[in-house]
Amino acid sequence: MNNNFIPFHKPYITEEEINEVVDTIRSGWWTTGPKTIKFEKEFNSFIGAKYSVSANSWTAAAHLALEAIGLQKGDEVIIPAITFTATAEIICYFGAKPVVVDVQPDTFNIDPIEIEKAVTSKTKVIIPVHYGGHPCDMGEITEIAKKHNLKVIEDAAHAIPATYKGKKIGTISDVTCFSFYATKTLATGEGGMLCTNNQAIAKRSSIMRLHGINSDAWKRYTSEGSWFYEVIAPGFKYNFTDIQAALGLAQLNKVDFLWKCRKDIKNQYDQGFASNEFIKIYKIKEDRESAYHLYPILLDLEKLTINRSRFIDELKDLGIGSSVHFIPLYRHPYYRDTFELELKNFPVSEKIYPRLVTLPIWPGMKSEDIHRVTDSVNLLTRKFKK
Ligand SMILES: Cc1ncc(COP(=O)(O)O)c(C=O)c1O
Repeated sequence: MNNNFIPFHKPYITEEEINEVVDTIRSGWWTTGPKTIKFEKEFNSFIGAKYSVSANSWTAAAHLALEAIGLQKGDEVIIPAITFTATAEIICYFGAKPVVVDVQPDTFNIDPIEIEKAVTSKTKVIIPVHYGGHPCDMGEITEIAKKHNLKVIEDAAHAIPATYKGKKIGTISDVTCFSFYATKTLATGEGGMLCTNNQAIAKRSSIMRLHGINSDAWKRYTSEGSWFYEVIAPGFKYNFTDIQAALGLAQLNKVDFLWKCRKDIKNQYDQGFASNEFIKIYKIKEDRESAYHLYPILLDLEKLTINRSRFIDELKDLGIGSSVHFIPLYRHPYYRDTFELELKNFPVSEKIYPRLVTLPIWPGMKSEDIHRVTDSVNLLTRKFKK
């Protein structure tokens, strides 16, 4: 093990997280219970939504959202090419079709022009993904959805906290789903939250996340609860636990601080790369604020003698972990073969993907770590210039 290795991600853990988890374990209430309810309430007021329903992942929350809006076999859902498989797989659960469209060259977010082109009489939902926490063009997307009577479920797995034209992500569309996966900007190991202003969606998803049981099922073992319950639909086992909520409560207390740390790293990287002509840095649009979950760079391959894969290996040799977010959906055998997706239909994603590298950006990185990353990238691009 190289002790000087700067990993791609490291969770930010303090005594507060540890004490909250220990307190939960000692309390004897480990699964969904009082801390989950408290976390939902606090998260809800942080976001400013009407309802927040916790689940054990983004994937579970977004599956519940599609179920609650009544997605059916044969329906179509428009999603961007550059995202994680979860965005697409939840659509397949229903026998519905993920309609994969190209992204914008500057933000890597779904392109509203491509959405408009992809709408058919079968389209039911648009799932914009806020890439790296950078909000999509929600004004344009909302317009398209209104015009064609579509629902919008935002994939805000990266977007805690982020704002679009002054509005917090989580308050704009029919539903917004967040992820609390270990690497995310608010992490509980695994976890997710569905935010909505629609009471029917909130109610249905809170029933379906716990086996389709029609009341506060988690209370059945408390002094206020009753042994009696009724199942109204074959639901799922998607509930959040109080151990996760303990981490969530501690992380939520410092969410603005964590955001400032990431923004500061982003600014230092931007400065460090300002005069590097071999890479393109990622710009945030002026009318919105990112969560800075990712720090992507694009290698100018035309000016370099190595490819992206080799660049990542060289960075690793210099003690720096990096990654690629994401391998576009149409390059995965399942989506490519099942939905007959062809590279030529995704010219923008195809330009981005071979050049894309995501660098470490996590609160707790020291100034010297940040400088080591910028120095190493700058050294490699100089070393391998044409
Ligand atoms: C864009 C995006 N959507 C959805 C997910 C799925 O989140 P979870 O692991 O909480 O299900 C991820 C996870 O990495 C993601 O990056």
